Amino acid sequence: MRALVYHGPGRKAWEEVPDPVLQDDTDAIVRVDAVTICGTDLHIMKGDVPEVTDGRILGHEAVGMVESVGSGVKNVRPGDRVLVSCITSCGACRFCREGRYGQCLGGGGWILGHLIDGTQAEYVRVPFADTSTYPVPDGATDEQILMVADILPTGYEVGVLNGAVQPGDVVAVVGAGPIGLSAMMGARLFSPSHIVAIDLADSRLDAAKQFGADIVVNNGREDAKAVIADLTGGLGADVSIEAVGVPATFELAVALSRPGGHIANIGVHGEPATLHLEEQWIRDVTITTGLVDTYTTPTLLRLVTTNQLDATKFVTHHFSLDEFEEAYDVFGRAADTGALKVVLTRS
Ligand SMILES: NC(=O)c1ccc[n+]([C@@H]2O[C@H](COP(=O)([O-])OP(=O)(O)OC[C@H]3O[C@@H](n4cnc5c(N)ncnc54)[C@H](O)[C@@H]3O)[C@@H](O)[C@H]2O)c1
Ligand SMILES: [Zn+2]
Ligand SMILES: [Zn+2]
Repeated sequence: MRALVYHGPGRKAWEEVPDPVLQDDTDAIVRVDAVTICGTDLHIMKGDVPEVTDGRILGHEAVGMVESVGSGVKNVRPGDRVLVSCITSCGACRFCREGRYGQCLGGGGWILGHLIDGTQAEYVRVPFADTSTYPVPDGATDEQILMVADILPTGYEVGVLNGAVQPGDVVAVVGAGPIGLSAMMGARLFSPSHIVAIDLADSRLDAAKQFGADIVVNNGREDAKAVIADLTGGLGADVSIEAVGVPATFELAVALSRPGGHIANIGVHGEPATLHLEEQWIRDVTITTGLVDTYTTPTLLRLVTTNQLDATKFVTHHFSLDEFEEAYDVFGRAADTGALKVVLTRS
């Protein structure tokens, strides 16, 4: 088969590799019908994720058809259309039993396209198939369901639910990439009074208006703290969500929150960020962090298939599988190309 193989920082190729085979009796082999690229794949390409080594097939999001299953797989059958989630779950360890699948101790967690070969290929081996795949609901398109593999649960769980968004809240979202936009879309479900999107790129702020933000702030030109203060009688946001992953945006998210407010960090941070405890100790704030667990996947699948969430809005570009190099280029130059999510399909 062909696959997108990582060959060290800055080097990758769509090349011929051996077909994946069943290794454990709980595995499934899935034919990839639709697949996308994540911002995290760009981090890997820069060399920011050293656990990913030369020869690894990238990708942790896919929709496809089950080809074969091991003898221990009970619920998934060849011919089933399934969502392959970014998080794999053994289903039996302490953390899986409390729905904390991202922290799986039994060999799951974020492994696809990281510690084992991933989905950016014609076929993928999915461990713990019963607990790591989800049936695609009838009538849903591959493209809609693909958005539930990573970005929608990440924005919803780590942003909206960890941030405890309530009706009437003022919600500030710092960063309007696919993850920040997912958080805005998820926050809308709770009828906040305002969603304020904050980003340096006007193209991303334009997108934010389509994803539920009613106020947009370019913090390269405007003072986000002053905008939030005006809106809240000087108090600050009820919930502020960080969806960038650099020290300045974490510190901004904290500064935007009101006393008693929630600050939900989603961004992957590579450098230390300062928590000004000398200011915050007295303000009763709650700060949360997290890796997505995907425990909301069944809920999100229902919301997407009933059009309560319009997942297709994320998809800005289409390619076939053998156009992976172009797809990475377009996705990697998002500020110029306007890319949010690119979808590659079997032709
Ligand atoms: N916690 C998790 O489980 C999880 C899962 C997936 C992704 N992530 C992380 O979420 C973050 C966002 O992902 P994404 O795919 O949306 O990324 P992205 O790069 O597409 O979007 C980031 C946005 O932040 C904006 N930005 C950059 N610097 C800024 C600043 N100083 N002020 C305001 N805006 C700024 C950029 O213009 C861009 O629009 C990343 O750090 C990613 O690694 C976390
Ligand atoms: Zn991802
Ligand atoms: Zn587990």
